[in-house]
Amino acid sequence: MKTEIRTTGDGSKTLYVPALNEHYHSTFGALTESMHVFIRSGLRNALLQFDEIHLLEIGFGTGLNALLTLLEAKDKNVFYTALEPFPVDRKTITSLNYGEFFTGQEIILYEQIHDAAFGEKCRITSRFELLKLESPVQKAILPGKYNLVYFDAFGPDVQPELWTASVFEKIAGWTAKGGILTTYSAKGEVRRNLQKAGFTVERIAGPPGKRHITRAVKLPVRK
Ligand SMILES: C[S@@+](CC[C@H](N)C(=O)[O-])C[C@H]1O[C@@H](n2cnc3c(N)ncnc32)[C@H](O)[C@@H]1O
Repeated sequence: MKTEIRTTGDGSKTLYVPALNEHYHSTFGALTESMHVFIRSGLRNALLQFDEIHLLEIGFGTGLNALLTLLEAKDKNVFYTALEPFPVDRKTITSLNYGEFFTGQEIILYEQIHDAAFGEKCRITSRFELLKLESPVQKAILPGKYNLVYFDAFGPDVQPELWTASVFEKIAGWTAKGGILTTYSAKGEVRRNLQKAGFTVERIAGPPGKRHITRAVKLPVRK
């Protein structure tokens, strides 16, 4: 996928896809958005509830969420599975300016996250195992059960086929009871489709530039 580098509101860079007229992150702040939507609103809740984190990310992209997760969850074992049908090439990753926001040691971990081969479980630290799969969510076959899901596909206006009840049902099937899903979209249709798939859905405060985001929890019993 052809991308261009763009600087966002907090100074961190993201990728822009001209063909879709879509960014990988919020233009108000890539790093700020990832921290808010996935780390503060998802991972921190999961860390309080679960002894180990079994995480599924839909849309690995720049790998920023993986790095932030590794850094935040230092004291727990994390098994991180990420789906990405269009891996970002290394030259593009190097052009992002995350070195300005992380220490040298943290950037080495970021590089290791990108060096990890697709299709193989790779140990990045003693507590963080990464499995990147070059597959679209619609075709993925996963063992489950994940207790945390980062749903970070391109937006519902650009990729409506990924925000459907049937895709969310597939994800619900991979999610453990009580598992948490976070995503940056709070669109009514997205929330309704999550509910149809068996999640309880909460609209919570968003990062700068966005009033709300969505946090969903897989119901103990399917309704
Ligand atoms: C909004 S970007 C976010 C990427 C990433 N989480 C990050 O922080 O850079 C959406 C990502 O979803 C990926 N994607 C596109 N189609 C997909 C599909 N069918 N299944 C899973 N991921 C997909 C894109 O290639 C892109 O990397």
